[in-house]
Amino acid sequence: MTEYLRSLQRTKRKTKDSLDSLVRFGGETKYEMLDNLNILLGVTGGVAAYKAVDLAGKLTSAGAGVKTVMTEAACRLVGPKSFEAVTQSAVFTTIWSTPEEYKISHIALIDWADIIVVAPATANIIGKIANGICDDMLSTILCACWPLVKSAAVLLAPAMNNNMWANPAVQHNVKTLEERGFQFIGPVEGRLACGTEGIGRMSEPQDILDAIEKIASNIKKREV
Ligand SMILES: Cc1cc2nc3c(=O)[nH]c(=O)nc-3n(C[C@H](O)[C@H](O)[C@H](O)COP(=O)(O)O)c2cc1C
Repeated sequence: MTEYLRSLQRTKRKTKDSLDSLVRFGGETKYEMLDNLNILLGVTGGVAAYKAVDLAGKLTSAGAGVKTVMTEAACRLVGPKSFEAVTQSAVFTTIWSTPEEYKISHIALIDWADIIVVAPATANIIGKIANGICDDMLSTILCACWPLVKSAAVLLAPAMNNNMWANPAVQHNVKTLEERGFQFIGPVEGRLACGTEGIGRMSEPQDILDAIEKIASNIKKREV
């Protein structure tokens, strides 16, 4: 073997070691709970929808299977292809599936999912879930996934303008959903898409990932 090939092998080994150390803390893989977990990612029509692409990529890198369901408004803000590319999996945008897709109906997607995450969650989807409204694929899934809600496996990451978040109707819906067992992360304070500062910013993808890992760990503890 030439010296050149040997040096290439050494560089490859070094890169692998440093990558391993990035995902390991104290000998434990940081997101080991997400490995082989099925995550249904709901994306609604907030500007933060672009950050959901990052979240989908992070979940996929951690070993989770990710399928994405997007609302019509979400599709106006980010292209379904971005999610398809980072998750290497189908993206669902309508409840009216073709006969070939019949097996992957909204009910089959719920059966497949271990955890459902909606990021970003608009004021609209929060209101629809709180009131049992099912007028598209995502809202129908969020109504029919009651067993997952009861096992604390449905996480919502709200994102909206600060005045929308402060609206008593929105706050009432959030409280209702919390009482029913939906998990929430954020929103946080910061600069909002509309240019103002306040509470309404979606939690960062990394923080949402940590929250999902925690939910996964609780699910696995219950299974033992
Ligand atoms: C550019 C743009 C950004 C928006 N951002 C938000 C947002 O961050 N949060 C929110 O609740 N609604 C936002 N909206 C309004 C929602 O898109 C609208 O209420 C829509 O009906 C939500 O539909 P969905 O919940 O089915 O996705 C935004 C609208 C536009 C045009």
